[in-house]
Amino acid sequence: MDLFDVYPLYDITPIKGDGAYVFDKEDRKYLDLYGGHAVISIGHSHPAYLNAISKQVSKLGFYSNSVKNPLQNKLADKLEKVAGIKDYSLFLCNSGAEANENALKVASFQTGKDRVIYFENAFHGRTSGVVAVTDNENIKAPFNQNHKATKLAFEDIEALENELKKGDVAAVIFEVIQGVGGLDEASTEFYQETAELCKKYHSVLIADEVQSGYGRTGDFFAFQKHEIQPDIISIAKGMGNGFPIGGILIDKTIEAKSGMLGTTFGGNHLACAAGISVLDIIEKENLLKNASELFEYVKEKAAENPQIKKIKGRGLMIGLEFDFEIAQIRKELLFKHQIFTGASANKKLLRILPPLNIKKEHFDELFKALKIVLDLK
Ligand SMILES: Cc1ncc(COP(=O)(O)O)c(C=O)c1O
Repeated sequence: MDLFDVYPLYDITPIKGDGAYVFDKEDRKYLDLYGGHAVISIGHSHPAYLNAISKQVSKLGFYSNSVKNPLQNKLADKLEKVAGIKDYSLFLCNSGAEANENALKVASFQTGKDRVIYFENAFHGRTSGVVAVTDNENIKAPFNQNHKATKLAFEDIEALENELKKGDVAAVIFEVIQGVGGLDEASTEFYQETAELCKKYHSVLIADEVQSGYGRTGDFFAFQKHEIQPDIISIAKGMGNGFPIGGILIDKTIEAKSGMLGTTFGGNHLACAAGISVLDIIEKENLLKNASELFEYVKEKAAENPQIKKIKGRGLMIGLEFDFEIAQIRKELLFKHQIFTGASANKKLLRILPPLNIKKEHFDELFKALKIVLDLK
């Protein structure tokens, strides 16, 4: 049987990983500066993580949400501590889209309203509600067109208030730093005013931290820099280091009702073991600090290269912007220098999303290769 052919594929077949590297079937070594779309947080095949999930699967891999699962409580407590947040409760699911879908649903249940505000260049996933609030018409089917969704620009606080005033807005959803859209981040003032307006007009503020969360920016959550307290925070990618797990953190003032949300696989034993282990490693290895420090190093290295016009992002969520399209550069980095990098809606931006325990020498490898690739242009 053929696979449903939706992905443009590189002719590379990774079969094992180790730290910041993956190896293909010819044992060729690739530096992974993209982590399979920001998923690899603690590095490939981390020994403590392997041990935790192997131990768990040998005991109990799965039972449903109809029984008690203390691993979910352990994960919630650990997350609260490592993230430095309080007054939230946790609902577990399996992916970023599912997290955001549940966030929108909670917002709508809570407010009794049905319209959602999203921002230009946003990406929130591909399921029906969240694709409707994603700024890409090519991935919306006719079925997805019936949601009530309004797109606004970052920083246009007047337009935002005009929409909220209408009284039918259940939620405002935003990525603090846009991933797929190209690493744009609005000002602290805009985020703070948005939070205040959501309170004023009884709409729910949803921070989509699926990509920017879990230490990627040097803060546990990217919104923490802006000193806001979103009503719901969605999480996924880095949470399981490749094990499918997602979730939403829901402000304690929002009351749960039995049956309001649900999932078969979400929060299963194996997923929780993966999630707990990731948090343990983030904490023990001080990975938030590493992300912040390495960003400073990347800024220094990038400043040596006049072809890099701008650095976007924070921590290890980085965009290097050129004044030409970078598709060819990415190909050469991958096929001539064995370095995985990423692209975005901004075709001039090279996206770097490495494991959070990456070291300076890995970036030295990148900048050395970039120099060769760019000089050859
Ligand atoms: C910010 C953001 N939200 C949501 C998603 C969707 O996550 P998933 O692919 O796990 O459904 C993504 C995926 O790229 C994302 O970057």
